[in-house]
Amino acid sequence: MKINDILCREELGKNDIVRILSADDEEIKIIKRKAFETLEKYCGTEVNLRGLIEFSNICINNCYYCGIRRDSREVSRYTLTKEEILDTAVWCAENRYGSIALQSGDRKDAVFVDFVEDVLYTIKEKTKSDRLPDGLGITLSIGEQDYKSYERFFKAGAHRYLLRIETSYDELFRSIHPEAQSLARRIECLSALRDIGYQVGTGVMIGIPGQTIEQLADDVLFFQKNDFDMFGMGPYIVHKNTPMKGYMEEISAKSGYIFKLALKMIAAVRLVMKDVNIASTTALQAMDPRGREEGLGYGANVIMPLLTPEKIRKEYLLYEGKPGVDDLVSVTDQKVKAQIEEIGRKINYDNWGDSKHFAGRQRRITSR
Ligand code: 5AD
Repeated sequence: MKINDILCREELGKNDIVRILSADDEEIKIIKRKAFETLEKYCGTEVNLRGLIEFSNICINNCYYCGIRRDSREVSRYTLTKEEILDTAVWCAENRYGSIALQSGDRKDAVFVDFVEDVLYTIKEKTKSDRLPDGLGITLSIGEQDYKSYERFFKAGAHRYLLRIETSYDELFRSIHPEAQSLARRIECLSALRDIGYQVGTGVMIGIPGQTIEQLADDVLFFQKNDFDMFGMGPYIVHKNTPMKGYMEEISAKSGYIFKLALKMIAAVRLVMKDVNIASTTALQAMDPRGREEGLGYGANVIMPLLTPEKIRKEYLLYEGKPGVDDLVSVTDQKVKAQIEEIGRKINYDNWGDSKHFAGRQRRITSR
């Protein structure tokens, strides 16, 4: 069947998604156009910014792929002070970001939970202005926590949460994580977040050794079935100080293919989920200097510029070749804004830029 005929369908099934993910270069152009039209129709084409603050690289998990895994001795561990986080957040608000994303390694101890809660309350209080009457929008991305902690963070002002499942295939999940972590637990966390009232985001890595196109198609169907609001997906990139360093050659030989596959995944999620927010991730940019702009062309509508204070950026390398680690915050900011405008997209300044899907979901709940 022609790709055009598939793309005309209102509902896409597994075979259709597999077709999209295995499209050739000619077909990719058609898919890209259709994904962009879908974005335009359901969300508008404005780009939403979230200033990304990686506030701590201390992590209790030992994921085999990740550069800041617990056992990595090469990383010097840091946690920003409340004042440092606050300064960056205020800087974001002053520079017309409507939202920030606070990200860190996993820690569940009481000191950490109290600290995050306090930081959230303070950011909300200190970033209220005429332009942002309710303060900055905050996305939290600090891994698996218990229900009570998620509830406390929500009350303190975080209203979106990102927790990637990495892959919805149990066996593949187990191949890249130690015993202590499970897909089932992640799914439980995602459902807790939804229950509490967060806008919930998830995502997968693309190009994990052993991962198939069929599995990625099932990932997209998993997203649909669980009705998530936001997505962050990116290519897997090998880090040399991890147990998966042996894949370096294999992955770099396939990097062009993986890059395109990641763009096709963005398009597939846009076509299937329609009104959700999709981030064009830094990992895409690590593979290609124009990667993030490309992602926007395939239906992404969120960019998370790296605004972690310069002095510690080098300590938050989840993978190698992370771009912009030497830039000043102001330089990153100017570059990102220029890149977005260069491709003719407008930025949604001074606005939380929430997922339209979430609003629809709320309406469905209240009208029941
Ligand atoms: N390559 C690409 N993405 C990675 N992440 C962690 N390590 C890597 C890597 N080596 C992603 C995971 C995690 C997110 C914070 O970063 O998907 O959920």
